[in-house]
Amino acid sequence: MYLNINNDKIHSGEIDILGAKNSALGIIAASVILDGDITLYNIPDLYDIHVMIEALKQIGFNVFFKNNTLKITGEANNFILSNESLSSIRGSYYFYSSLLAKFFHVSSFLPGGCNLGARPINYHLEGFASLGCDYVIFDNHIEIITQELHPNDIHLPFPSVGATINLIILASTILGVTHIYNPALEPEVLDLINFLNHAGAKISIKENYIEIMGVTKLKGIKYKIIPDRIESGSYMLLALTKTFSSISLNNTNYKHLEEVIKTIKNIGGIVRLNKNKITVISPKKITPINITSGVYPKFPTDLIQILAAILSDSYYPSTITDTIFENRYSYLKELKKLNIDVKYNFPSYQVSSSHIFNSAKLICSDLRGAFSLFTSCFLTHGHFQIQNVDFIFRGYNSFLDNLKKMNVSFSLGCSTDNLLF
Ligand code: EPZ
Repeated sequence: MYLNINNDKIHSGEIDILGAKNSALGIIAASVILDGDITLYNIPDLYDIHVMIEALKQIGFNVFFKNNTLKITGEANNFILSNESLSSIRGSYYFYSSLLAKFFHVSSFLPGGCNLGARPINYHLEGFASLGCDYVIFDNHIEIITQELHPNDIHLPFPSVGATINLIILASTILGVTHIYNPALEPEVLDLINFLNHAGAKISIKENYIEIMGVTKLKGIKYKIIPDRIESGSYMLLALTKTFSSISLNNTNYKHLEEVIKTIKNIGGIVRLNKNKITVISPKKITPINITSGVYPKFPTDLIQILAAILSDSYYPSTITDTIFENRYSYLKELKKLNIDVKYNFPSYQVSSSHIFNSAKLICSDLRGAFSLFTSCFLTHGHFQIQNVDFIFRGYNSFLDNLKKMNVSFSLGCSTDNLLF
């Protein structure tokens, strides 16, 4: 699908932020090991969530999803996941841990996810092995099995969000004490821990490790997931473009965005906080900075591409470095179509521009890169087309409704014909 944008005015708007996609994925999979009805609130209505819901149904649950509330009843009765769409999303690997915990066996697909580099799952598999599992991979399938799960001390080579979540889920029902050293402590990981502890788990965060005292039973609960800090940060950065005056966000949590807020102020934006509402006011001009992403609470890798689009609207270069993924660069060749100058010094690059073109056809190739290209259409007035805009729909709840709330003139097309050019 493609989005034609006719940027002919100064925009502003107020939008509602929904629950964190990257929190919902782990919590939905972890629901498999709870005994009893589960109700999850603030769940975003996104493709990845629907894939996880279909998987829950396939293993035996009754699932009802309406108005961002997910009701899960019944229980799992099989460990085989055969829905090919699981290989198109990253979060599908969270079912490895919950089905292993329930059945000591899981048969599924290797995970998909945005093309940001190799994206191996070795930390997950090494962690499973240290808890007593064996696995075999063939084609794009994986089979993991165990005769007996046992606690252990796991040392993660890198604070991987996915591996930390997967290993917490598996360890939460292994009697004894498991430690995960060098864990990820992103808000989405803490949300998963909070969810499991509400259900009766015994998980605590220590100096540089997570301690999990396994329990025999976890009970069904009602739980509201945290707001999506990446969705929030994306719109906060969009507000800094020349053709926006301001954007206000409701139902968000500025405590998860402290480094993003600091960065926005450093480049000249104004940020107003009022309980769970954030308003960002666009600066007259962008102040160049040098920025490096890192694990939480540093600047998030998922926003670095969108920030690069903002920083490119300056004659003076800014230097950007992503320390998390080795290939989050494909969007830069698209930004060049807007007369944005990119100088590479891997893993860093510099962006700047003396004059942003007012027309371009931009092709998306990953979720956050797609929002970056969308943002670049607001650096100056003009006519723009974004192809493969489906990527954005995978991570941004009610995206088209939000465009209307921000008074953006757009049309959506399905074919590849060049209606705009
Ligand atoms: C999660 O991905 C998020 N996805 C990503 O968001 C986010 O960018 C990332 O965490 C970092 O915050 C979901 O939660 C579904 P990692 P994940 O394991 O878990 C390497 C988005 O846009 N690594 O923390 O895959 C890996 O290649 C997505 O919503 C291994 O080498 O990230 C990467 O370089 C994009 N072996 C680094 O670690 C492993 O076994 C961090 O990965 C696992 C990871």
